[in-house]
Amino acid sequence: MDFSIQATTLEALRRAQADALLVVVGEGTVPDALGKALGAALAAALRDGDFEIKAGRCLYLQGIAGVEPQRVVFAAATAGDAKAFKAALLAGLALLKPGGARTLLVASALPQPLDGAAAQVLPVAVDEALYVYRHTKPSAPAAPKLQQVMLACAQADAAVLHAALQRGEAIAAGVALARELANRPGNHCTPEILADEAQRLAKAHKLQVEVLGRKEAEELGMGCLLAVAQGSAQPLKFIVLRYRGAAKAAPPVVLVGKGITFDTGGISIKPAPEMDEMKFDMGGAASVLGTFRAVAQLRPKINLVGLIPACENMPSGSATKPGDVVTSLSGQTVEVLNTDAEGRLILCDALTYAERFKPAAVVDIATLTGACVIALGHHRSGMFSRDDALADELQRAGQQALDPCWRMPLDDEYDEALKSNFADIANVGGRAGGAITAAMFLKRFTAKYPWAHLDIAGSAWKSGTAKGATGRPVALLTQFVLGRAG
Ligand code: BES
Ligand code: MN
Ligand code: ZN
Repeated sequence: MDFSIQATTLEALRRAQADALLVVVGEGTVPDALGKALGAALAAALRDGDFEIKAGRCLYLQGIAGVEPQRVVFAAATAGDAKAFKAALLAGLALLKPGGARTLLVASALPQPLDGAAAQVLPVAVDEALYVYRHTKPSAPAAPKLQQVMLACAQADAAVLHAALQRGEAIAAGVALARELANRPGNHCTPEILADEAQRLAKAHKLQVEVLGRKEAEELGMGCLLAVAQGSAQPLKFIVLRYRGAAKAAPPVVLVGKGITFDTGGISIKPAPEMDEMKFDMGGAASVLGTFRAVAQLRPKINLVGLIPACENMPSGSATKPGDVVTSLSGQTVEVLNTDAEGRLILCDALTYAERFKPAAVVDIATLTGACVIALGHHRSGMFSRDDALADELQRAGQQALDPCWRMPLDDEYDEALKSNFADIANVGGRAGGAITAAMFLKRFTAKYPWAHLDIAGSAWKSGTAKGATGRPVALLTQFVLGRAG
């Protein structure tokens, strides 16, 4: 997809050289400002009750006399901010997705001038609206014809909006990568395949990559990662990605992504209904790869490290049993009371491994707990940090990128739940506050650096008829990294 800025007035839209025109309109829109032909069409639709300024409402018109673009879509925005702009774009683009338009001009007829946030969200919305999964579905609908999207704006704003559009393009490419990988079934996205994708990404975008296997994990002493992987026939992979945009000595930001390519629960096996959705349990890993994709394109002045512990969680004769005690890379012993609490086990060894980079900050991303879905639903990711500044940074990045999170507590009182009679710590703390006790477990391994944890169990994918990965929280993470680079 090719994105560009087009300096133009609203009045000139009707003469645009494009197959389609998408105009976002709101309560404050004056139809006359769109010129005679376009304005009259909009005014008539509003007057006759065929179109309203209400959330989700759109109007598709074909062949308006006096208007060059064959197809015109009016999409209603219920506010003047980027969030309402994105919602209007998604609704409007859905109407154009199956059509014949190859070139599209997007314009805002809202009273507020377009800002960077709105321009940034355009490529993200286009990518989201036009996505078709096809990796294992030959019968999927043909790819949408749209190839070129232009954003209309005033001449004076063009430079600022151009930069924002480029940011959005990179984020969209990152989201797309994360979503695609997460959507692939467990047998098409094994730890080995994930490692291959990391190698491919590194090669294409000049990143450093290193992939450790079981032997190296054993030599290092990653007893928790090994304990999860040992029930599976698929060999574990520990992926280390590096992007260098600042001086060699500059402390990096480290992103750690949970890479369970399928979570059966292990011996503590999950019930059958919806178990297929546990192919999405590598959504954290996918978001790390997606963020590297975006960062590699934008080349900010920062050093970034990505760590992805990847394996399957399977029941078998060689699987870890409830009650087994294993020794983590940190030296702390862990009683595995429930083999389905495997995410924290693979993450704790990765969090200890992160120490060697002397990080400025470490953020882990994981589809960690069903309890987080109960607490926050599917809109906001759970965010945990004992560092107020880091928590505020992430909260703001999520807000800006329209990929929001919400801070959850980490009081010492919650530690009680993780006491074990047979090890330094138990891997589960009971049903109450399950997302918090999971984060408390991780916290034990993060004393040496500023740390935050994102529980994306509710935000990484959608269930039901819209079942599919979202590519979240690539937008949040990229915004955060760009903010750190200044
Ligand atoms: N991958 C799951 C978390 C999950 C479950 C995400 C359902 C989205 C929907 C994780 O590995 C898990 O199984 N967590 C357990 C923890 C429990 C055993 C303490 C859970 O949430 O039930
Ligand atoms: Mn599990
Ligand atoms: Zn899991």
